[in-house]
Amino acid sequence: MEDSIEVILQDYGGDLHTNRTNPVLSACTGALLAGLYGVWRLFTMPGFRKIPRSLKVPYLPSSKQQTLNTMKLLEGRTGRLADLGSGDGRLVFAASSAGFQCTGFEINSILVAYTRSKALWTGVPSGRATFVKKDFWKTDLSSYDNVTAFLAPGVMEVLGEKLLKELPDDARVIACRFPFPDWPHRSSVGSGLDQTFSYDIGTVRSHLRNVS
Ligand SMILES: C[S@@+](CC[C@H](N)C(=O)[O-])C[C@H]1O[C@@H](n2cnc3c(N)ncnc32)[C@H](O)[C@@H]1O
Repeated sequence: MEDSIEVILQDYGGDLHTNRTNPVLSACTGALLAGLYGVWRLFTMPGFRKIPRSLKVPYLPSSKQQTLNTMKLLEGRTGRLADLGSGDGRLVFAASSAGFQCTGFEINSILVAYTRSKALWTGVPSGRATFVKKDFWKTDLSSYDNVTAFLAPGVMEVLGEKLLKELPDDARVIACRFPFPDWPHRSSVGSGLDQTFSYDIGTVRSHLRNVS
C-alpha cells in the first residue's frame, strides 16, 4: 500500500532537519566573501568614487603577448605617448625602452606608487616614463602623438569621442583587446584576448566624415 503524504513527510522530518545549513557557517562564509570582495576592491579600484559607474574599469594587467603586439603596432613611431590606465606600468616601461617619452595616467594610488618606485629602482629617467595619479577622462590629451588603451568594451565608444576631439591628425591610437566601434583600424596583430588594434586619427576622421 502506498504511504500517505503525512507518513512520507514524517519519514523525511529527520533528514530535512539534519540537511538544514548551519546559520553560523553561512554567516561566516558571507562575511569572508564580503571581506575578500572588499580587499579586491581596495587593490583594484581605489579612487573610483568620482567616476560614473559606466566608465569604471578595474585593474587587469595586459599579457606579455599583448604588450609585444602593442610595441609592434608602434614600430616606426616616435614622440610622446600616453597610456590610459597604466596599471603596473608594463606598457609604459616597454614603450619607454623603445624611445618614447611616456606618461602613464592611473587612478589607483597603490599602482602609481608601485610604478614610481619601479621606475626609480630600475633607473628609468623621468623624461622617459612619468606616472601621474590622474583621471584620464579629465585630462587633455592633445599634446600626445601616441595613445595606448587597455580598458573595457563599454568605454571604447566614449573614449573614441574624446580622442577624436583632442588628438592631432597624425596621432596613432593602440587599443588592446577591445576595438573602437565604427573606427576603421589601420592594422591589427594577434588573435583572441591578445588581439591589438592600431588607428591613425587622420584616417579615422576622414572615414567618419565620409560615412556621415
Ligand atoms: C585593464 S587595466 C590595464 C593596465 C595596463 N595598461 C596594462 O596594460 O597592463 C586598466 C587600468 O586603468 C585604470 N583606470 C581605470 N579608469 C581610469 C581613469 N579614469 N583614470 C586613470 N586610470 C584609470 C585602472 O585602475 C587600471 O589600472
